Amino acid sequence: MTQRNFQPIERNLAMELVRVTESAALSASRYMGLGDKELVDQAAVDAMRHTLDGISMDGIVVIGEGEKDEAPMLYIGEKIGDGSDPKVDIAVDPIDGTTLLSKGLPGAIAAIAMSAQGTMHVPASIFYMDKICVGPEARGVIDIEAPVKDNLAKIAKALGRKIGEVTVTVLDRPRHVGLLAEIRATGARVKLISDGDIAGGIQASLPDSQVDVLMGIGGSPEAVLTAAAIRCIGGEIQCKPWPRTDEERAEAVNAGIDVDHIYPTEELVSGDDVFFSATGATTGELLKGVRFFGGGAETQSLVMRSRSGTVRWIDATHNFERLDKVRYS
Ligand code: FBP
Repeated sequence: MTQRNFQPIERNLAMELVRVTESAALSASRYMGLGDKELVDQAAVDAMRHTLDGISMDGIVVIGEGEKDEAPMLYIGEKIGDGSDPKVDIAVDPIDGTTLLSKGLPGAIAAIAMSAQGTMHVPASIFYMDKICVGPEARGVIDIEAPVKDNLAKIAKALGRKIGEVTVTVLDRPRHVGLLAEIRATGARVKLISDGDIAGGIQASLPDSQVDVLMGIGGSPEAVLTAAAIRCIGGEIQCKPWPRTDEERAEAVNAGIDVDHIYPTEELVSGDDVFFSATGATTGELLKGVRFFGGGAETQSLVMRSRSGTVRWIDATHNFERLDKVRYS
């Protein structure tokens, strides 16, 4: 990886990003439980895109809704902002957990990250990556290529606990049968999640959460958003491309991707200025979801900046009548 020097970003963009994830969560959660994943995603995308327009920046979407021909908004390569500084890479997941939100299940969040332009890296043509993710106390002891039992033994030691007192989050997928058997053989506690490995990774990296480690294969875009959050919190994520088929592997190799490369946190998102915001759409272990009341709603967000290391939990009350006046005056 070539090292580049970037202009420091003086503004705390995270304080502006929180409005973006709040608007996505507020908008999408109106359609909670209707069983329509596309609808919640579209509502979140529309709201996120609209709110992003209000931020002065020269932004480019590097993790988005897909290629331009399949995504009318927030597509990879889309330019956002008025072209003024700062120059930033933007990673969005308007709703991580669209299935959760469409079923009214816990743990759906709206998430966004920004960092200096040219600092976010992901093998875009690789759909999934294998991931391991821990908090600050276990930073430096993990190795995604090592046996599961070795990783868990080292993590337990770093946390000053027995392996049986360590909790590992894993996406509940058939591809994880072998991984689960290995984890269970160590005696570690397991928490299966049906979706949402950004929230799972953040929980693993936050001190005082119910989770110590995230392991397993999930989306590549989600890996970058998780890495951005971890750059702020101070833990560690390691990822390795996980091509689904020989064809996907061959295509990636032809495109010059090293499918055996291990992506550490600082390669997924490099540079010193990383900003992250997530807002709960449905209530989960990480964040409270949107709660509507007559004339408004409450949201809860996690808002962070890597340079300062400040982690903010922002509870907001939104008054729809006044908001409309501000928006349309
Ligand atoms: P969506 O909200 O885009 O459906 O993603 C949810 C999610 O669970 C991610 O958190 C995770 O990285 C990915 O899907 C796992 O993919 P799959 O559901 O194909 O196993």
